[in-house]
Amino acid sequence: MSFNKELNRRRTFGIISHPDAGKTTLTEKLLLFGGAIQVAGAVKSNKIKRSATSDFMEIERQRGISVATSVMAFEYRNLKINILDTPGHQDFQEDTYRTLTAVDSVIVVIDVAKGVEAQTEKLVNVCRMRNTPIIVFINKLDREGLDGFDLLDELEQKLGLTVRPLSWPIGMGQRFKGVYSMYEQKLVLFRPHGKQEDEEDRIEINDLTDRQLDELVGEAAADELREEVHMVESVYPKFDREAYLKGELSPVFFGSAINNFGVRELLDCFVEVAPPPLGRVTEEREVKPNEDKFAGFVFKIHANMDPNHRDRIAFLRVCSGRFERNTNYLHVRQNRKMKFPNPTSFMAAKKTILEEAYPGDVVGLYDSGNFKIGDTLTEGEVLHFKGIPSFSPEQFRFVNNADPLKYKQLDKGLVQLMDEGVAQLFTKEDNNRKIIGTVGALQFEVIQYRLEHEYGAKCSYEPVNLHKACWVTCDDEKAMKEFIQRRKRDLARDKHGQLVYLAESAWSLQMAQENHPKVQFHFKSEF
Ligand code: G4P
Repeated sequence: MSFNKELNRRRTFGIISHPDAGKTTLTEKLLLFGGAIQVAGAVKSNKIKRSATSDFMEIERQRGISVATSVMAFEYRNLKINILDTPGHQDFQEDTYRTLTAVDSVIVVIDVAKGVEAQTEKLVNVCRMRNTPIIVFINKLDREGLDGFDLLDELEQKLGLTVRPLSWPIGMGQRFKGVYSMYEQKLVLFRPHGKQEDEEDRIEINDLTDRQLDELVGEAAADELREEVHMVESVYPKFDREAYLKGELSPVFFGSAINNFGVRELLDCFVEVAPPPLGRVTEEREVKPNEDKFAGFVFKIHANMDPNHRDRIAFLRVCSGRFERNTNYLHVRQNRKMKFPNPTSFMAAKKTILEEAYPGDVVGLYDSGNFKIGDTLTEGEVLHFKGIPSFSPEQFRFVNNADPLKYKQLDKGLVQLMDEGVAQLFTKEDNNRKIIGTVGALQFEVIQYRLEHEYGAKCSYEPVNLHKACWVTCDDEKAMKEFIQRRKRDLARDKHGQLVYLAESAWSLQMAQENHPKVQFHFKSEF
């Protein structure tokens, strides 16, 4: 197949949701459609279970397994679809943010009973910063939930999306009869218990006044549907693919993932509208997917949980050109050539060595410590991909060396773990003490455990009373000098030497902002 054909048949996306909305279930059903897995439950078993929230070892073990399912690829209607898994566990949110830099679109799953939840909001915000095209799937219609129109209002108000329903539910819970697909003008009747829909359950109804509708769902439900669809048509904008591709309009689907219902309508629309691999901006220029020369960036690094293989896996998104096995590429930050004898792909949840990969694909590279998040590989050009931010952490502890003979090991371990993106390290300006900042509390245990088992170093923590860390910049030298002088006690450097303000409370942050109006406070590190 020609390069352009390969390129154009790729669709790379992520599924995001608040935990328990049904992301894992939906992923699994999508893979079933593509024939990538035979048995339902195959993805589920890799999900980090809620029961493990207090047991970080168990979580790490599960995370180790879940490497295999970090990228799930399947074929559908002659497209190669890559689903990048985003950890649902709140403590690994940063992993999710970074993965979102490697997708071209997302599907957001919402629980019909719970509506828009906290994590949905955070993740959609990250997508909106990048204008990522979003499709919404409202799940669990087999249960009682919020009214369809109220849900659409929530999507608009809490997520800031402009929405356009492309399917509409007929009843819900006990009375759930199915969905009417406005996209295909088909009535799809609900058959519970996870049975795949049959063709005879999908009935073409081009005109909702058709009396057949009353026979199929009952007169009352049919009338309600007519009224509601009429309302949808008159209130919401027409679906416009261009607007969707710009991230300005989000189609909405209704269904029940566990019953494999409404999923096919979602997928059929997805393959028609979702974007093929998109270009990416670098500090130097925009990289287009159809360029001849290969370029890609590392968006995630995962430690190998097998104690006999201490190597890590770096996940590289191919952005342009063709990636080939055993070929020399430039590691831009290290300014040296590297080649990869065993790059892996993630087809059907199995790891296999791949010979070549195209834009939109994700390649797993075995790594003994050469990669950091954001690193670039090219055929020789110096490029730095933009858009992989660090977010300001919310939990902090002083980290101390607990074994004086092992300070080198501790330093090395800390640097590598930070490169993996596990947490962020800040060094205080006044006394050089080190503070670890994380998004979730679990990471502290993960770091301590991994330092000991992978690097032979021991650390202890001390509480530190901090509210937030934010990066500071200022165009006015004098104002900056004054800020530094007055706030020295609260300043630190991150691993790139960038200045960070450590605020003890929301109030002190506000005061600092008010007293130093010329100084800018940034809540993510890319600015
Ligand atoms: P997540 O990845 O977003 O965290 O959610 P997941 O798919 O694991 O689903 C969370 C729970 O919601 C699971 O139940 C799952 O079976 C259920 N679920 C998913 N889709 C639907 C649906 O369409 N209708 C209904 N009624 N439930 C749905 P669980 O009890 O936590 O797990 P399990 O014991 O069923 O595996």
